[in-house]
Parts: sequence; C-alpha cells; structure tokens
Amino acid sequence: MKNDFFERLFNFSPHAIVGEYPLNIKEYLNDMKTLVDGTLERYIPSINSYPPDIFNSIRYSLFAGGKRLRPILVMASAKTIGSKREEVLPFACAIEMIHTYTLIHDDLPALDNDDFRRGKPTNHKEFGEAIAILTGDALLTMAFEIMSDTRSMPHINPLLILRAINEVARGVGPSGTIGGQVVDIESTGKEVDIPTLEYIHTHKTGEMILAAVRGGAILSNCQEDELNALTRYGENIGLAFQIIDDILDVEGESEMMGKTSGSDERMKKVTYPSIFGIAESKKIASRLIDNSIKSLEMFGERAEVLKDISEYIIARRF
Ligand code: IPE
Ligand code: IPE
Ligand code: MG
Ligand code: MG
Ligand code: MG
Repeated sequence: MKNDFFERLFNFSPHAIVGEYPLNIKEYLNDMKTLVDGTLERYIPSINSYPPDIFNSIRYSLFAGGKRLRPILVMASAKTIGSKREEVLPFACAIEMIHTYTLIHDDLPALDNDDFRRGKPTNHKEFGEAIAILTGDALLTMAFEIMSDTRSMPHINPLLILRAINEVARGVGPSGTIGGQVVDIESTGKEVDIPTLEYIHTHKTGEMILAAVRGGAILSNCQEDELNALTRYGENIGLAFQIIDDILDVEGESEMMGKTSGSDERMKKVTYPSIFGIAESKKIASRLIDNSIKSLEMFGERAEVLKDISEYIIARRF
C-alpha cells in the first residue's frame, strides 16, 4: 500500500465525498505535519535505545504516516486564542502518541482484528501481540511524561498545564475513548439504538478530538466563553470525523486510506452508514461541520484555520 501522506493528499481527483478542500489548507497541513513529525523524531530518536524491540515498535507505528490531525488541532486552537504554536508543541505531540496507542490497540485481534494501518501491516502483525500491547502502554505513558514536563513549555503557567493534562486524561479514559471502545466492542453484531451509536462515536473518537481542541485553548489561558465556543466546535468535528471514517470504510480505497476498507462490514460494526445509510450519513456529517463553523463566530478571522480544518474533515478521502 502506498504510504506517502502528501502524495495521497495532492494526487487524488478533486471530487471530494461531500465538499472540497480549501486550497490553502493543504499547505498548512503540510507544514504542521512536518513540524509535528520533526518534534516526535526528537522525542523518540532512532539511536540504539534499550530494549530495542519496544523503541523499534514505537517508531514503526508512530512514523507510519498519520495525518496528525489531533496535534494540529491543539496548535490551531492555541493560535485562535493567541499563543504561538511552538509553545504547545510538546503537548500536541503527546496527544499524537496517545492517538497512535489507541490505533495499535484498536487493531488487535481482540478488538477490530485489522491487518493494515497507515499503509503498513498493523503493529501486532509485525511485532506480535505482546509487543503491540506493550507499545500502546508505552506510548500512553510517554505522553504523560511529555505533557507533565513543564520545562518544555516554559511560557505556560504550570497550573494551566495541569488542567490540560487532567482534560486529556478524562477524555481518553473510561468516560471517554475507552468507554466508546467498550460500547463499540459490546455492540458488535447487535442492533443498537441511535443514542448508543452516538455514544460510541462521540466517545471512541470525539472525546480525544475535543481534548485536543480544549487542551490547546486551556494552555493558552482562554476565557470561559471562548472555551465554551471551542467545546461546541470540538464536539461537532469530533462526531463528524468518525462519521466520515465510517463512510470512508464503505466508499474509500484501502490504498489511499492505508487501512483495509470494508472492515466495519466484515466485523459487523455499528456505524452511521449501517444505521442511516450513506446519503443520510453524509448529510448528518455536513450538518455537524456547519455547526462547528457556526460555533467559531465569536473569534472572527482568528478562527480561519479551525474553519478550514472543518472543511478539510468533511472533504477528506483518507
Ligand atoms: C483513525 O484516525 C481512527 C479514528 C478515530 C477514526 P485518523 O484517521 O486520524 O488516523 P491517522 O492518524 O491519520 O492514521
Ligand atoms: C477508531 O474507530 C477509534 C479508536 C481508535 C479509538 P475505528 O475502529 O473505526 O477506527 P479505524 O477505522 O480502525 O481507523
Ligand atoms: Mg474500532
Ligand atoms: Mg478499527
Ligand atoms: Mg473506522
């Protein structure tokens, strides 16, 4: 499978699933991905670290070519409030580590049993289940080491850092990501009602996206009304992101996505297309994206990038 982010981003035919990319967002995402990748590289250098298996496995999954949407959201949210993206970069990278851990565990035979991720065999296919589980554990733990290293974010009040860490911990724990994953697994092959479907999606995926948006704002010492507006933004794009992921699982090409399409159908997963059908799912996602953009009104031009990211989410092909 092809695994070059920008090749895929730039070389697809420009009919998007619902809309089209705003032109300048490509360049922005390109720059931000480079920034995140370079910083992650510094956290996990390819020097001989011991034990080699765990560091090789971390690097294998972390540098396999993710879109880096969550760290980009941390930085874009911080920028909207008024801080510099470099100031929140360590925090942003830590969220990408947490996200990568959730992907490794999500792919395990006991969960979604997937063979491809980010254009390569899944971590457990390459390193075995034991190392894959431990790699997830390692990434999650390292993320908290990085987020709590106040020296790396010298311009930010440590109390704000503490509050943002608390936010992330809550968002990815049993009331957030893990709660969503549990209900996802328990609902597999069953008929569920719409509130349960919405719970799965807002939790397994939405909460971490929300924590990225809110985290960036909190680190930037935002006002409560700003945080409320960004919370609405994060909730809307978070759910939309997973609905689009479900749609792409039906309509997308494995080669482009770097993971096997049709996986949800094979596993009898509860998804938006399985309950609402494709056309209605697209409408729901579009509405959520419109709402996300509306919630940015109070920021005016300062939220231009967040608005572009919303449009990117609905138009993405992988
Ligand atoms: C995949 O996330 C898992 C979901 C929450 C849908 P991404 O689509 O952001 O995956 P990467 O990071 O780009 O590989
Ligand atoms: C992903 O949901 C949620 C998490 C990884 C927490 P999916 O299972 O739909 O993600 P993909 O399609 O495998 O990337
Ligand atoms: Mg899953
Ligand atoms: Mg999965
Ligand atoms: Mg999916």
